Amino acid sequence: MKQTNVKPADGKLGVLCVGLGAVTTTFITGVLMARKGLSKPVGSMTQYDKIRVGKGAEKQYLHYGEIVPLTSLSDMVFGAWDVYPANAYEAALNAEVLRYRDIKPVKDELEKIVPMPAAFDPAYASRLEGNNVKTCANRWDMMEQIRDDIRRFKAENDCARVVVLWAASTEIYVPVVDEIHGSLAAFEQAMKADDKEHIAPSMCYAYAALMEGAPFIMGAPNTTVDFPAMWQLAEKTKMPIAGKDFKTGQTLVKSGFAPIIGTRCLGLSGWFSTNILGNRDGLVLDEPANFRTKEVSKLSTLESILVPEEQPDLYTDYYHKVRINYYPPRNDNKEGWDNIDIFGWMGYPMQIKINFLCRDSILAAPLCLDLVLLSDLAARADRYGTQRFLSFYLKSPMHDYTADEVPVNHLFQQYVMLKNAIREMGGYEADEEID
Ligand SMILES: NC(=O)c1ccc[n+]([C@@H]2O[C@H](COP(=O)([O-])OP(=O)(O)OC[C@H]3O[C@@H](n4cnc5c(N)ncnc54)[C@H](O)[C@@H]3O)[C@@H](O)[C@H]2O)c1
Repeated sequence: MKQTNVKPADGKLGVLCVGLGAVTTTFITGVLMARKGLSKPVGSMTQYDKIRVGKGAEKQYLHYGEIVPLTSLSDMVFGAWDVYPANAYEAALNAEVLRYRDIKPVKDELEKIVPMPAAFDPAYASRLEGNNVKTCANRWDMMEQIRDDIRRFKAENDCARVVVLWAASTEIYVPVVDEIHGSLAAFEQAMKADDKEHIAPSMCYAYAALMEGAPFIMGAPNTTVDFPAMWQLAEKTKMPIAGKDFKTGQTLVKSGFAPIIGTRCLGLSGWFSTNILGNRDGLVLDEPANFRTKEVSKLSTLESILVPEEQPDLYTDYYHKVRINYYPPRNDNKEGWDNIDIFGWMGYPMQIKINFLCRDSILAAPLCLDLVLLSDLAARADRYGTQRFLSFYLKSPMHDYTADEVPVNHLFQQYVMLKNAIREMGGYEADEEID
């Protein structure tokens, strides 16, 4: 490895997960099994992918961990918060994602992960009824209690660093209001004034994490760290933030498939995406206010890849619809259907159908691992604010919309951004353009 300015990954990395549901338990169980040599972290780029560094005769293909100092799986320590009191072993069984034989060998370790009481407000996810919840005087107090939790966890587990990952239920849609979310001072004032309408519990977790020197990752579509007040806090605390919404099933396919249509200059008249899903995430998303948050996130993908203003003949007024339907028999095994109406030479119509029978948490777990390790890396590389190089993993990548920045949704452009950031942090030249 070249000599770089990135601080080494010495000591333990605390991974504090908000939500101990299907995604989190699948993620944690997989890491614990992998480090015992009983399973493979398939799908994780930090564990498998190789990047070219150097050119010509100097060219080499190296794993991420050979280019930059990454925390090893054996140095990760897990903790969580959840509305339900079940420990990680019970929660993994309840989630019914993994077979018993893939959980049992790490039962003892999982049982020790007992969720801390959640910072929760039922108005933000009305279908949840757990009682492992903090009593808070106001939003500021809620945030202070989370800070205490982080500090205690870090001390008790002798962690050198902590990352906070939101893999909890999607909250109701919170529109960004300039008077509240536009500046850190106004935002802090609203927390103290207990403005429940504009300050979601997730924002208290994010604020607390950044104040405690922990990067914050938003895995759900919540707007939590996607506004100027949080960007200012990330800058003030010199901490990385990443979000939002893990790009796992249908949107992964969409952001990989839409470029086929775009690069071949075929036309698009409609793209209809629907899903059936039966886990607790599906239950929460069956609530229209919670689905609205997801819909905004899912819809944004296509418009930035197939841009009407750039190709009015091909992409003006295409009809884009996304649906999620709660259907209990399928549990975590989501089925997605995409019907794509395209047109070709002289406007002749054609159709493409994609039927993806996926496992939601199996796809999300490696993203959790990569986002955690790469956010920790970013912090050690003194990168702060929105980490756009992590857009690859996210359905609705954050960007500075106040500065007219546009999100990059094109899967292959996102991959270039990821590789270049790793190259740069590893002391190599970023050498591919993303146009
Ligand atoms: N699996 C995927 O492919 C995927 C993709 C993109 C985004 N996501 C998002 O990831 C999140 C987790 O998904 P999941 O399938 O694990 O859901 P899940 O319902 O199994 O788990 C979420 C857990 O979060 C807990 N929770 C809710 N609010 C909380 C709070 N304020 N504090 C602490 N805990 C809280 C719930 O009690 C629940 O146990 C969801 O928001 C989902 O939309 C998942």
